[in-house]
Amino acid sequence: MTELSFASLQEGKPVRIEVNGTPVCVARIGAEVFAVADTCTHSDAALSEGEISGFKIECWLHGAEFDLRTGQALTLPAVEALEVFDVEMNEDVITVNEKTGEK
Ligand code: FES
Repeated sequence: MTELSFASLQEGKPVRIEVNGTPVCVARIGAEVFAVADTCTHSDAALSEGEISGFKIECWLHGAEFDLRTGQALTLPAVEALEVFDVEMNEDVITVNEKTGEK
């Protein structure tokens, strides 16, 4: 479990955190916050350095797009979905956790 403050997140500027040693990309879209694995499923690029548009994040290396809500790969060259992490919001505190029962 990792905590961060909502106020520290800027719209359209994803950040990289670690949850139990796994790099996680956290993105704020409006009043919502999403967290997915930070490592692109195509190769070894950090998605937190990519571009956000709508609910999508685009990998900076070869341009694959993923849905931040579901982790689903939307465009080639990525085909595998990203792991999605649970996000809890309590006032200004955001808690990111691995989903229970899944790896
Ligand atoms: S490493 Fe992300 S699209 Fe290739």
